[in-house]
Amino acid sequence: MRTTLSVLASIFILAGCTNAKKKEQSSNNEEIMKDALKDIHSASNYQLVQSMHITLDLTADFETKKLKGFVTHTIKNNGADQIIFDTKDLTIEKIVLDDKGETKYEFVKEDEILGQSLAVDIKKETKSVTIYYETSPESEAVQWLNPQQTAYKKFPFLFTQGEAILTRSWIPLQDSPGNKITYSATIRTPEELTAVMSAKKIDMATEELGVHYFTMEQPIPSYLIALAIGKLEYQSLGDRSGVYAEPNMIDACVYEFQDIERMISVAEDLYGEYLWEQYDVIVLPPSFPFGGMENPRLTFATPTIIAGDRSLTSLIAHELAHSWSGNLTTNATWNDFWLNEGFTVYIERRITEELYGRDYSEMLALLGHQDLEHSIDELPADETSLKLSLKGRSPDDGMTDIAYEKGYFFLRMLEENVGRERFDDFLKQYFKDFKFKNLTTEEFIVYLEKELPEAKELNVKEWIYEPGIPDNSPKVVATNFEKVEKALTYSPSTFGNEEGLNPEKWTTHEWLHYIRNIDVEEWKNEGYFKEADAAFHFTTSKNSEIAAAWYEKSIEAGYKEVYPEVEKFLIRVGRRKFLTPLYKALLEADEKEFALKIYEQARPNYHFVSTNTMDNLLGYQNS
Ligand code: BES
Ligand code: ZN
Repeated sequence: MRTTLSVLASIFILAGCTNAKKKEQSSNNEEIMKDALKDIHSASNYQLVQSMHITLDLTADFETKKLKGFVTHTIKNNGADQIIFDTKDLTIEKIVLDDKGETKYEFVKEDEILGQSLAVDIKKETKSVTIYYETSPESEAVQWLNPQQTAYKKFPFLFTQGEAILTRSWIPLQDSPGNKITYSATIRTPEELTAVMSAKKIDMATEELGVHYFTMEQPIPSYLIALAIGKLEYQSLGDRSGVYAEPNMIDACVYEFQDIERMISVAEDLYGEYLWEQYDVIVLPPSFPFGGMENPRLTFATPTIIAGDRSLTSLIAHELAHSWSGNLTTNATWNDFWLNEGFTVYIERRITEELYGRDYSEMLALLGHQDLEHSIDELPADETSLKLSLKGRSPDDGMTDIAYEKGYFFLRMLEENVGRERFDDFLKQYFKDFKFKNLTTEEFIVYLEKELPEAKELNVKEWIYEPGIPDNSPKVVATNFEKVEKALTYSPSTFGNEEGLNPEKWTTHEWLHYIRNIDVEEWKNEGYFKEADAAFHFTTSKNSEIAAAWYEKSIEAGYKEVYPEVEKFLIRVGRRKFLTPLYKALLEADEKEFALKIYEQARPNYHFVSTNTMDNLLGYQNS
């Protein structure tokens, strides 16, 4: 794909220039296109010498909280005498070339965010580089949980989180989304535990001895290499899907995920064949810092979506959608993150529309729009464009609702203007043309304007490079929310008496709209928080989304009856999306002392992704 770069660059700008100008413009544009390809978050030289396949052999030592073993990189050398890997907090024992002699290596650069780059001497003819190493207990990707921190409470647990640049803290590799690799792995665990990876499990016979083999035959970016180890059970959900969970969670998970097979079929009808063979989900302990992570063949998910009524499974539609957007067609750099997430939200909503109807997906879209408006209010203007500029910053800083929701509304705008049928054909072709490849934002624009020329009239560059929401943003029609807005004009205990406002029929999303739109001043003055709690028991809700939204409003209103439940929630759950607004609300309510008291206790339960954000938010110094 890269060979077409200069051709693409010239299409990008040439229309309407004189010859001399064309030449100058075209080299400028080539520069722009080339610049966009540089991954500022990886020191690796994969464009010169590329790791193509990695073979892992690691032992998980739960005593010392270390992964120990080796990784072999099969490389393609285009003439370099050193290969540079990204690492973070790894201890290297030795490095061997082609299974023969040891070679020289050194850490050449150190950066607080990016870690240490490891330069290894190689020869022109070197075919493989084997690094013997171990991780540190503080490895940013890996969380080691003691039995108390799991659902089953009897066995320890481990999981990794690679996106965005954390894989380098458990495997020394070329940690750029622009370099796709295949992998195989041998994972050694205590005998009673199961290991799973974002790969095909092979040779189950050795499971009982604690030796687990895997292979990932499709090329994937390094952030999608993932491992989990624990006391796990597996239940099939159909021909090509299933769920892993701790033994006491498995039945609830099977119930919750009944629609997965249908989701796969719907997505395939829209965007082409599912190319990863199997789609499983593992439900992790509650400290998992995300709602879900799209590790190929095996989505990692938070247990906070197990609501008992299948109401939060659009998250699974989202992670499944990444099987096309993100995993098949991947952002070239983290500045292009919206190409992963914006497309995925768009596909997620198309899947939920097919399965549950337009009224349902429009509720999700409207809640998404509220998130978008909130982010645009909170973020500095230059962080609200789709294309990011993250030089000197962690990719994590760019992972806001802008990529997700502005990305979604941009694609929906295109769909509404060119017509659904044409847009569906366009996307299907896009995933075909870019399968197992990478793409920059600039390459996307060229492709879009070539395939759908009418896009040139649709403010595409404004959407991508300018802050805020352009004027041609689509309007959401969430009919189901009309009754919710009407209900908010009555008191919480009485609106149920009104014609058509039957709260007993409301679903999670209606309740979320209700809670998010509470007028805090009015509710405080009227004593509605207590009244609503008596009627609907929000404070003790088992639905994590409803509980978290309610706690946020309650803290803002000084309704302290929620505090004991807030404390329990923050200690149990490590999902950053819930932690950030709750700790923020406590700070804004002048409850810093209370927040810190909870945090002291909760912090050991959180993954690095969450502690990193919360430490900053709370000004917490880790001693
Ligand atoms: N890929 C993301 C999770 C992620 C983002 C990890 C940025 C690391 C850095 C995943 O697909 C995701 O978006 N998860 C969301 C759920 C979704 C329904 C919006 C989450 O975790 O909340
Ligand atoms: Zn996502």
